[in-house]
Amino acid sequence: LILLIRETRHPPTAASALPQLHGQCYDNSGDAELRVTAMLELGSPLEMIQLLQTPWEERFKICLSLVKLLFYLAHSPLGSIALLDFQPRQFVMVDGNLKVTDMDDASTEELSCKEDKDCTLDFPTKSFPLKCSVAGKCEGINEKKNLFNAYRYFFTYLLPHSAPPALRPLLSDILNATGDLRYGINETLRAFEKVLHLYKSGQSLECTWSVSPDSLFLSPDYVSLKGFRTVEGEGHKCWPSYSHLGCLLSIHSAEEAAAICNSQLHCHSFIVTQHRTWTGRPLASFQSSWTDLVPDTNAVVYIKRSASSGERL
Ligand SMILES: *[C@@H]1O[C@H](CO)[C@@H](O)[C@H](O)[C@H]1NC(C)=O
Ligand SMILES: *[C@@H]1O[C@H](CO)[C@@H](O)[C@H](O)[C@H]1NC(C)=O
Repeated sequence: LILLIRETRHPPTAASALPQLHGQCYDNSGDAELRVTAMLELGSPLEMIQLLQTPWEERFKICLSLVKLLFYLAHSPLGSIALLDFQPRQFVMVDGNLKVTDMDDASTEELSCKEDKDCTLDFPTKSFPLKCSVAGKCEGINEKKNLFNAYRYFFTYLLPHSAPPALRPLLSDILNATGDLRYGINETLRAFEKVLHLYKSGQSLECTWSVSPDSLFLSPDYVSLKGFRTVEGEGHKCWPSYSHLGCLLSIHSAEEAAAICNSQLHCHSFIVTQHRTWTGRPLASFQSSWTDLVPDTNAVVYIKRSASSGERL
């Protein structure tokens, strides 16, 4: 791993997936044996169960960083590298990005072969026959091994679950194509980037709004109060919220937030906060009851008309 990190100035795509090397020590005092210790950046170990409770956008980010890592490994200066141990415990999270901790179990050699039948890629549930190249190597075996492992350990668990409905067909294409190894890593990265683009641009929404996201929100269902925000506190809970305390969801526009608030029985009002997720989408905070308003020149509170009737408005 040290070799790989040092050999390469990471291109931007891979920089997020390899851990940062803070230092390394050579200890050759006494023994003839040379010991090398690497000091790597620390992260928290990957917990699948916990990940399943995070918003889809965060799970997509993990899969995307894995795909970027595999793209980098497939075209690394040391050749195409296979990760031999693909258990989630081999990975850590640093700022919501996936990084690999231990590459002692990595192989840069592509399997040698005499004929095609020496090149079967075997998994417990599936086998893939590969070609033996004229150079006597199983072509692309490392890249394919990584990709199928990414499919079986990560994509199947993290991608489909509570994905935006309009992205589901694309995501199931990705699952199908990686599960059958129809895609190589290049096509997989391209497909992920397409999903990201659609998601960021709001084209993943089921309806397209006639109003631009930045325009003043005018809906007969909502009263908007400019120059105020609600006090953030314990609000009603929703899933999968970005905050344990209340209902904080990533949205594309105030219109989408209104649609979400309409779909929640107890939603009374919402504000679009200044916080943004990694894709640049703002977070909206939804409230179920009347909370105090505080002046905030940059903020707007949207209150459901049906909720406000009979109350202070
Ligand atoms: C991909 O789709 C084909 C056709 O629907 C199906 O037969 C195959 O089992 C699917 N493969 C995976 C890995 O889902
Ligand atoms: C995949 O992308 C890399 C880097 O852009 C390129 O060098 C390689 O030829 C591509 N491979 C295929 C099979 O398209």
